[in-house]
Amino acid sequence: MKVGIPLEIHESEQRVAAVPSTVQQLIKLGFEVQVEAGAGFGARISNGSYSQVGATVVEDTKELWSTSDLILKVRAPEQNEAGLLADGASLISFIQPATNAALLEQLAARHATVFGVDCIPRISRAQKMDALSAMANIAGYRAVIEASYAYPHFLGGQMTAAGRIDPAKVLVIGGGVAGLAAVTAAKGLGAIVRAFDTRMAVKEQVESLGGEFLVLDFDEAGEGSGGYAKVMSKEFIEAEMALFAQQAIEVDIIITTAVIPGRDAPKLITGGMIETMRQGSVIVDLAAEFGGNCVLTEPGRMIEHHGVNIIGFTDLPSRMATLSSRLYSNSVLKFIEEIGDAGNFNIDHGNEVVRGALVLENGETRWPPPKVVKPEGDPYSVDVGERPAKVKPAETSDAAVESNTNSISVVQTSGIILGILVLIAIGLWAPADFVSHFTVFVLACFIGWQVVWNVSPALHTPLMSVTNAISGIIILGGMLHLSADSTTAAIVLGVFAVFFATINICGGFLVTRRMLAMFRR
Ligand code: NAI
Repeated sequence: MKVGIPLEIHESEQRVAAVPSTVQQLIKLGFEVQVEAGAGFGARISNGSYSQVGATVVEDTKELWSTSDLILKVRAPEQNEAGLLADGASLISFIQPATNAALLEQLAARHATVFGVDCIPRISRAQKMDALSAMANIAGYRAVIEASYAYPHFLGGQMTAAGRIDPAKVLVIGGGVAGLAAVTAAKGLGAIVRAFDTRMAVKEQVESLGGEFLVLDFDEAGEGSGGYAKVMSKEFIEAEMALFAQQAIEVDIIITTAVIPGRDAPKLITGGMIETMRQGSVIVDLAAEFGGNCVLTEPGRMIEHHGVNIIGFTDLPSRMATLSSRLYSNSVLKFIEEIGDAGNFNIDHGNEVVRGALVLENGETRWPPPKVVKPEGDPYSVDVGERPAKVKPAETSDAAVESNTNSISVVQTSGIILGILVLIAIGLWAPADFVSHFTVFVLACFIGWQVVWNVSPALHTPLMSVTNAISGIIILGGMLHLSADSTTAAIVLGVFAVFFATINICGGFLVTRRMLAMFRR
């Protein structure tokens, strides 16, 4: 089976769908790989780097398309490209099926099988194939870099001999993948960062990144199905716009990322708000491609209004083509592995990820996929947060979940009964001395468990690093056992106690120092 990697022809697109390392993996999976000459130039990859790993470099575009069984692309094919696809061939690329009907018709006429990487469901299992999130992460970072380039001051504050420089204030609207990446990058450059999202689940994530989450005094939950945002009421939008109007006066940079899948971006920043911003302020509108969150955004361009630069670039990942090509091609490779290797490239409709991404199958429309009913949960955020651990696999039936829950509760009940029997036996037959020590031990375990259990997992490391008080008590106890009149067993245990508690104390100090170093600049 032949895989073809064409040169991306969309204006200013620098990315490429496969890099030499993923080409090597594809060859290992049994595919033959051919790359169009110059396809990697935008990502700084020479033709030679591809041939070195076993790919054939093809000069002629038509030849590459017509002789490939599977085309890997970044952007959806342009109209003239779709006609080049061999009859019955497959394609993996961004597709945006909801807004690309004409292209899909053309591909259907060629009996194509098309997978949209943007249609891969955002579930835990598919995280490694999620090119959309990988690109949004880069876009969020790059938005801050573009903003700092256009902003005529430092982002971080400084105290210099020539005067004090206050840190820039950055407002991030929408705390999804791109928004959280923007918070991280702006914080890293020393700015004061505030963020707002309709989903309260984002609050903890923003705060864990060192940002301030702005809370609106309005009683309406923003969580929609599957943890995505839902369309908010007109009253909510008005209330949040009042908040942004207030913020616009204070902040220097606004990065907007607010979108709801399948909808036009809500208009949240008005011309009036922009006019209240300081001269030299910057707005980066990541939602530009979907109409923009700012009324004045011009997709693909930077414009100036009242001394405020409004950036509507829609090619932010492409501006970091070497990195984005690497991440994109890794996601595509993982997706191909999910379908099967060269000898076993079959579409499994029972595979939620493959089915979700399937847009056309031999020219037949397969999009949108049937709805998978799942419990509500927060979609994940890339790099900085965790995906929800509680997502129920789609194929798990309710009966299976119920029987699983039943067997867990049987195991739990038997464990509790066994524990009670052991305690009764100890109380009846163990020496009184042992029973009193054991009681203290059990109580200590219980209190320790209660103390640790109620702490957010993110704080476990700092908590553990300051448990030196407990280690100190252990050292004292161990030392008491090291006296001459103790039994050999007690002395050995004492030595172990002193040794391990010392490691804990020293390790705790080391971890604490490393953690503090992370916050020092
Ligand atoms: P996402 O769906 O993960 O995050 C969007 C966030 O906006 C969600 O957290 C949602 O709750 C929030 N939101 C929705 N309505 C809101 C409202 N009225 N007020 C406040 N928050 C609201 O999306 P992701 O992946 O973070 O992408 C964000 C945007 O960046 C998308 O428009 C995407 O197309 C765009 N993007 C732009 C690129 C570029 O080059 N310009 C490249 C990659 C992504």
